[in-house]
Amino acid sequence: MTEQPRNVPNNLEAFWMPFSANRQFKQAPRMFVGAKDMHYVTSDGRQVLDGTAGLWCVNAGHCRPKITEAIRQQAGELDYAPAFQMGHPKAFELASRLATIAPEGLDHVFFTNSGSESVETALKIALAYQRVRGEGSRFRLIGRERGYHGVNFGGISVGGIVGNRKMFGTLLTGVDHMRHTHDPARNGYSKGATEHGVELAEDLVRIATLHDPSTIAAVIVEPVAGSTGVLPPPKGYLKRLREICDQHGILLIFDEVITGYGRMGTAFAADYFGVTPDIMVTAKGLTNGVIPMGAVYVRDEIYDAFMNGPEHLIEFAHGYTYSGNPIAAAAGLATLETYKEEGLFERARALEPVWAEAIHSLKGEPHVIDIRTIGLIGAIELEPMKGEPTKRAFTAFVRAFEAGLLIRTTGDIIALSPPLIVSEDQISEIVETLRKILRSLD
Ligand SMILES: Cc1ncc(COP(=O)(O)O)c(C=O)c1O
Repeated sequence: MTEQPRNVPNNLEAFWMPFSANRQFKQAPRMFVGAKDMHYVTSDGRQVLDGTAGLWCVNAGHCRPKITEAIRQQAGELDYAPAFQMGHPKAFELASRLATIAPEGLDHVFFTNSGSESVETALKIALAYQRVRGEGSRFRLIGRERGYHGVNFGGISVGGIVGNRKMFGTLLTGVDHMRHTHDPARNGYSKGATEHGVELAEDLVRIATLHDPSTIAAVIVEPVAGSTGVLPPPKGYLKRLREICDQHGILLIFDEVITGYGRMGTAFAADYFGVTPDIMVTAKGLTNGVIPMGAVYVRDEIYDAFMNGPEHLIEFAHGYTYSGNPIAAAAGLATLETYKEEGLFERARALEPVWAEAIHSLKGEPHVIDIRTIGLIGAIELEPMKGEPTKRAFTAFVRAFEAGLLIRTTGDIIALSPPLIVSEDQISEIVETLRKILRSLD
C-alpha cells in the first residue's frame, strides 16, 4: 500500500536548484521525504534503494541512530561556539581521532564545511607553506584534465571539466593541467586500478620542465576521478606522481572527497594505493553527509612550518565561521564510531569482488560501451545518442527512480556508490533493475 503524499510544497519556483535541470525537475519533481538505512522514501510513499549513498556521502546508510542522537544531544548542549580564537572539546577530539585513521604523518586537520572549501583550503595551505619555508617562487598549481575539485574558483581552476569552467572568466592564473588517464581502448572493462597508462605520470615531468619545477607549489589529483565518470588510476601512476613530486619539492594533494572514509574498502584511497600525499582533502563521508563538514589533513612538517613567529599572532589567515562547528563535530565523532563498531570499511573491502562481479555482469547489455569498478564504486558507460549527448543516461536515471533505484549520471555514464551497509541481495537488485532499464532504452 502506498502512503498519501506528504510534505509536498506548492511552489517550486523560488529554489534555484544546484547542478540540476531546473525546468525539467519542476515539471516532474522527484522528492524525497524520508530515509532509513539503504532506502529513501518518496513524497508518494515509494521506497527507493540508494545506489549512490546520496551524493557519495552517506557511507553508513541513512538516519543511523548513533549519529542522529549525537546531533540531537549536541544541539541541546552547545549549539555553536566561535571558531576563531575560541575552542570546544569535540572539534579537538574529532581532529585527534581523524589523525589516528589517517595515513602516517598526516596528523593535523583543518576543518571546513564542504569538499569545495576543503579544496580551496588545501590550495591555500600549499601556496602559503611554500612561502613560509622560503620557496615563495612556487606559485603554480597543477591539476588534471577531467578532474573535479568542487565549484569554487580555486577548485574549478585546477579542475578539468570544461562545462564547469567555461562561464567563469580567467579563473586562477598560474595553473596548468596534466593529461587525464582515461584510456578505454587499452583499459576497457577494468576492475581496480587499470593495467595501462603509468607513463601518463610523466606528463608532470613535462609540465615541470616547461615551467621549471621551482615555480610549482603543488599538484592536486583525485586518486580515483569520480565526477567525470569513475576513472581509476593506472597501476603505479600515483606512486610515480609521488616520486616526481619528491624529486622536485612539489606538494602532492589527494582530493579524497569521495574516496575517503571507507569507499575504497580502506579508510582512504591513500591506503588502498599505498601512496601518502602531503595534503589530503576530505568531506562527505566525514559526517555521513548528515551535517556539512570537510577536513583537510596535512603532514606534520607543513603544520610545524607555520608555527613560527610571535605566539600571539595568527599563523594562517584562513578559516570559516563554521570550521569545527560543534554539531558537525559531534556528527563526525558518531560517524567514526559507527564505521568502527560496524566494521564498515572492512565490509566494503570484502564486498569489492562481489560488487565488481555483479556490475560487470552488465557487459553486453544494450548501449553499454565500458564498465569500471573499484572499491564500492562502479561506472557503466553508455553509448551517447546521436546528436543528443547525456540524454540516454538521463533517461536511465529517471527510469531508475521510477523503478525504485537511485543512480547518478554524469555525461552518458551511470555512476554507482552505495552505502557501505549494502547487502549482496541489494547489489543484485541494483544490477537487475539496471539491466531491465538498459534493455528498455532507445
Ligand atoms: C573529488 C571531489 N572534490 C570536491 C568535491 C566538492 O565537494 P562539495 O560538493 O561538498 O563542495 C566533490 C563533490 O562531489 C568531489 O567529488
